[in-house]
Amino acid sequence: MSDAIIEVRNLSHWYGHIKAVDSVQFEVKKGEIFSFLGPNGAGKSTVINILITLLPIQHGEARIAGYDVARDPEKVRDSIGIVFQETTLDRDMTVYEILEFHGRLYSMSKDSRRTRIDELLTLVELEAKRNTLTKHLSGGMKRRLEIARGLMTRPTILFLDEPTLGLDPQTRLKTWEYIKMVNADGTTIFLTTHYMDEADHLSDRISIIDRGKIITSGTPWDLKNRLGEDVIYMETTDDKRTEALIGKETEVRSIKRKERGISVMIQGDGTRVLPALMEKVREAGIGVEAVNLKKPSMDDVFVHYTGRQIRDEGLVQSVTKQVAGKE
Ligand SMILES: Nc1ncnc2c1ncn2[C@@H]1O[C@H](COP(=O)(O)OP(=O)(O)OP(=O)(O)O)[C@@H](O)[C@H]1O
Ligand SMILES: [Mg+2]
Repeated sequence: MSDAIIEVRNLSHWYGHIKAVDSVQFEVKKGEIFSFLGPNGAGKSTVINILITLLPIQHGEARIAGYDVARDPEKVRDSIGIVFQETTLDRDMTVYEILEFHGRLYSMSKDSRRTRIDELLTLVELEAKRNTLTKHLSGGMKRRLEIARGLMTRPTILFLDEPTLGLDPQTRLKTWEYIKMVNADGTTIFLTTHYMDEADHLSDRISIIDRGKIITSGTPWDLKNRLGEDVIYMETTDDKRTEALIGKETEVRSIKRKERGISVMIQGDGTRVLPALMEKVREAGIGVEAVNLKKPSMDDVFVHYTGRQIRDEGLVQSVTKQVAGKE
């Protein structure tokens, strides 16, 4: 038997004529933190909504905790906790009431509700806010409360759709900590995000999804190292000329223009290529103002596979230039 707790085969979904999910296939192992990393409109929420039985399966198969999503939706719902992309907290209920109501909805006994609420408020550090109305909580506190609510029924799997969307950097770090704690406690986590660092930092494995399709999957380490490319960042007195000049070198796979400077993807070992490139630039009379060599980041992985970058405001065409004939 496979140790997969989520199994998805050939899943496709249409909204009218729009194919939002296109033959998606993946497995999540018990105990993992698994992420869908992709830009706005990639199909992440659609896949989650199918898996949590909120949308019907149109095509393909999915099993959650051994139960078929189409045939056993109730069993599936009993195995999962959900934190939706949009806040779904009643503004006029207190923190305690939100959790209490959720426990009742799932027919938890009075005693187990009480113990569980105490445990969870400690976990997400909201004891002091127990009797506060949710409309008076900060964005980060709301997110933590939603995570706590998702955990009320001790689910086997917790689905988190964009858990840190719109949170400030400090609150995001804190939320990552809670997610790791929940996972260490034995809960399998499926999360979606468009934050590269979030996927990189949290995940045991990542699938990059774009326009409804999974483009590549692997551990963060695998994804970054599989590129086999180091990246040289350069700021010069004439970036445009530098780009044209070194774009011709055989070791250069592609060049990406940044706000300042350029990022040069290197085929092979950057430490060996860098001196030759510097020499060439200097010979052409161009001044080098800053230079830095680094291993590929998740951002580079994403650009490599999609040719585009994810930005907060959506998807922005990058000026990545694949150097002809170097694939
Ligand atoms: N209810 C709907 N009706 C019609 N089209 C929809 C609906 N929901 C989503 N879509 C479309 O399906 C595609 C996938 O949307 P989805 O919400 O799954 O993407 P996402 O990856 O979750 O995006 P985001 O990062 O913005 O949350 C998009 O093109 C979107 O416009
Ligand atoms: Mg979404």
